Amino acid sequence: MARILLTGATGLIGGAVLHHALGRDDDTTWVCLVRCAGVEQGRQRIAARLERFTDPFTAQRLARKIEIVPGDFTSADRDMDPRLDGCTHILHLAADTSWWGGERVFKTNHDGTLALARRAQSMPDLQRFLHVGTAMICGADAPSLVEETAYPAADARHIVGYTESKAATETSLSEQFPDLPIIVARPSIVVGHSTLGAAPSSSILWVLRAADALRMLPCSPESCVDIVPADWVAETLAGLLMKPDLKHRLYHLSSGATGRTRWADVIAAFEKAEPTDGIRAFRQFDLDRDRAHLRKRFAEVFGLKDASTRAMLLATRAYYAFCALDLSFANERLIAEGFAPAPSIASYLQVCLANSASIVEQFVDDIEMFAPAPVTTSSPADLPLAAIA
Ligand SMILES: NC(=O)c1ccc[n+]([C@@H]2O[C@H](COP(=O)([O-])OP(=O)(O)OC[C@H]3O[C@@H](n4cnc5c(N)ncnc54)[C@H](OP(=O)(O)O)[C@@H]3O)[C@@H](O)[C@H]2O)c1
Repeated sequence: MARILLTGATGLIGGAVLHHALGRDDDTTWVCLVRCAGVEQGRQRIAARLERFTDPFTAQRLARKIEIVPGDFTSADRDMDPRLDGCTHILHLAADTSWWGGERVFKTNHDGTLALARRAQSMPDLQRFLHVGTAMICGADAPSLVEETAYPAADARHIVGYTESKAATETSLSEQFPDLPIIVARPSIVVGHSTLGAAPSSSILWVLRAADALRMLPCSPESCVDIVPADWVAETLAGLLMKPDLKHRLYHLSSGATGRTRWADVIAAFEKAEPTDGIRAFRQFDLDRDRAHLRKRFAEVFGLKDASTRAMLLATRAYYAFCALDLSFANERLIAEGFAPAPSIASYLQVCLANSASIVEQFVDDIEMFAPAPVTTSSPADLPLAAIA
């Protein structure tokens, strides 16, 4: 019988995993390490996340199936709670996903994951430690089709400290824990849910909508974006966690060369979903040279009167820097293991738009990602937003 330790249960992907897994009646026990004052508060935090996927009654019923261990994964090596000892699998999702959190992000993601790995060494029945990284550890100079084995690379140029912390984590895990059964899954960009649309989360969806409203792209409409929905990521992670034999230790969870979406297809999906806005004429612009033009256009469309919209302009510039990279992530390994390919964002964009709040409201939901670093660091990856956009 599987006993799965899950970190990050209160987050977007953690909620999607639990919604997928708890709906199935099997013998699996889910043990969630949650930051909370006590078990009941932890359960209610998870139930609140599950309510984004289902009705409140079902969310409560599902949350009752979970064993809650109050705690912080960054000090897991000092957490001698015996409920952790018998775990057979770990799905490690928890992370600080802020882009400019500086030292705090590195400490949480790198040092914290190593603390969890040390705790895992004292789990005698452990069969798999599925660490969730990010495909963006490839940095800004990667080829347009990124292969799993090329990264982490010591010379990768990171746009944000978050990806640098995730790359360092993978390196340290493989160097320091060769005895652990670690598998790494690297999702690409997670946007929406293929049937519930924006209800579970509107994270990053606002970026696509802002680009559509601005009618500006920092790249050709023929360039691609590698986006996957949260429910597909959840199902695939659950599969990778439990599949007895895996051929590799690293997997992209991505749409890959055959499933990636051209910006032209994203634009066409907007035209289909919101026909009253008519045929879109996009302007391709240069992120460095045309800063003033972007600002002017942004002010026309969203206004720049309050702190939220000013923060949104900075975040839009930063996301545009990622869009301009034109990256896709090879997924042949995943497909060869028998997993279904991800649905294209163009195929479920309409579902996402159908239950979307306003673009600015959706950005405000994501605003924690753009909180500034609490301490100054000299790392190039921690340069202020404006410097990279
Ligand atoms: N979303 C994407 O587009 C994407 C793409 C590629 C990779 N990923 C990776 O997928 C994983 C999950 O992402 P997500 O989008 O679901 O993130 P998320 O919504 O930001 O959730 C982060 C989760 O981590 C938990 N956490 C953070 N610090 C913690 C700590 N010190 N102790 C215990 N829990 C802690 C949070 O708990 P609290 O609720 O207590 O804060 C929350 O449950 C991350 O590792 C991320 O790097 C995400």
